[in-house]
Amino acid sequence: MKDSLPLSLADQTSAAPALSVIVPCYNERPNVAPMIAKLDAALRGVDWEVIYVDDSSPDGTAAEVRRIAALDPRVRCIRRVGRRGLASAVIEGAMSSSAAYVAVIDGDLQHDETRLPVMLNELRSGQFDLAVASRHIEGGNNDGLANRWRHALSDGGIWLAQRLLPVKLTDPMSGFFMLPRPLFEDLAGHLTGQGFKILLDLVLSAPTPLRVKEVPASFHERVAGESKLDAQVMIQFAGLLLDKTFAGYLPLRFVSFAMVGGIGVMVHLVVLGVLRQWTPLGFAAEQTIATLVAMVFNFELNNAITYADQRLKGPRLWRGLLLFMMVCGVGAIANIGIAKALYESNTAWTAAGAMGAVIGVVWNYAVSATLVWRAR
Ligand code: GDD
Ligand code: MN
Repeated sequence: MKDSLPLSLADQTSAAPALSVIVPCYNERPNVAPMIAKLDAALRGVDWEVIYVDDSSPDGTAAEVRRIAALDPRVRCIRRVGRRGLASAVIEGAMSSSAAYVAVIDGDLQHDETRLPVMLNELRSGQFDLAVASRHIEGGNNDGLANRWRHALSDGGIWLAQRLLPVKLTDPMSGFFMLPRPLFEDLAGHLTGQGFKILLDLVLSAPTPLRVKEVPASFHERVAGESKLDAQVMIQFAGLLLDKTFAGYLPLRFVSFAMVGGIGVMVHLVVLGVLRQWTPLGFAAEQTIATLVAMVFNFELNNAITYADQRLKGPRLWRGLLLFMMVCGVGAIANIGIAKALYESNTAWTAAGAMGAVIGVVWNYAVSATLVWRAR
């Protein structure tokens, strides 16, 4: 009993647990109870707590966590409203901890929770700043990835990340890792908090390279519920790397917006090519149609990726599309006007064209950020 301990001894025993296990979750209701039972079994002898961070899942995940929390004080629930996102959920969960260490693990039973005490021991040795469960070292495996497409996404991401990372990580896409809580707090201010790749974000945010211990782990197949990761993640991920590479000179949203714009140019050219080949409309009409198609395409993609956290829906979607097309229309006029003026004052056509395009995209970004996806 702590109350009856002499003061000096009581001071040495912390009321905070040794380990907070952060579980970001969205629509994981059937997985909550089995997961807590597994943590209980894996963490015998460790003073732990679990913090579920739920974005008000429609399936009632938070209610299920609270039901168990009423019976087990080691179980906590953070329920967020009006927001979505894995990385920001992890950050908020970890920031709510007062434990010595924080771990992050998926709430869908795909990660092997028996790795937790192993990771904890590695960190307690004091030799490492970060323990990462890896599927790509001896003893780990990745059989749980849903299909070939997910394997290709994963391999491509690893290849790209390893080119840019300050430390060697065989599994930079891992969503299962542990670090001292004070270190997390130090790094938190530098995190972008967007997308899925919180581990990469942490590693890239550290001012000096982290000492990493990789622990082999297998990745199981998902039994209940469904994955929330798709191609969108890959694009957000590329944006994250670009953002870190430019060390915050460019906002992540702008990078994403500009990449979407680049894809839009390709869509434009494809549509134009098809129309020229198969219709007798004439260049002006064909160019107009291609422009409109590219605008709608860009709007949809920006709404899905660049502004995933404040996605427009229903009537606001149509209003947003209309505004976006007007904004981009003005952007196109500015683009052409500036390029033309530069070209006429003897600037090389490449420089004039590029300058016009840059001004156009900056205009489109700045104005649509305030008018179309207005922060609520
Ligand atoms: N709070 C919150 N908000 N949680 C979320 C959100 C969200 O918007 N999106 C996903 N989650 C939760 C899920 O409920 C799950 O517990 C965990 O985050 C991982 O999401 P999954 O949808 O199961 O991802 P996955 O299995 O496809 O991806 C896993 O493997 C990837 C590597 O292949 C994750 O571990 C990734 O982090 C990892 O990169
Ligand atoms: Mn999963």
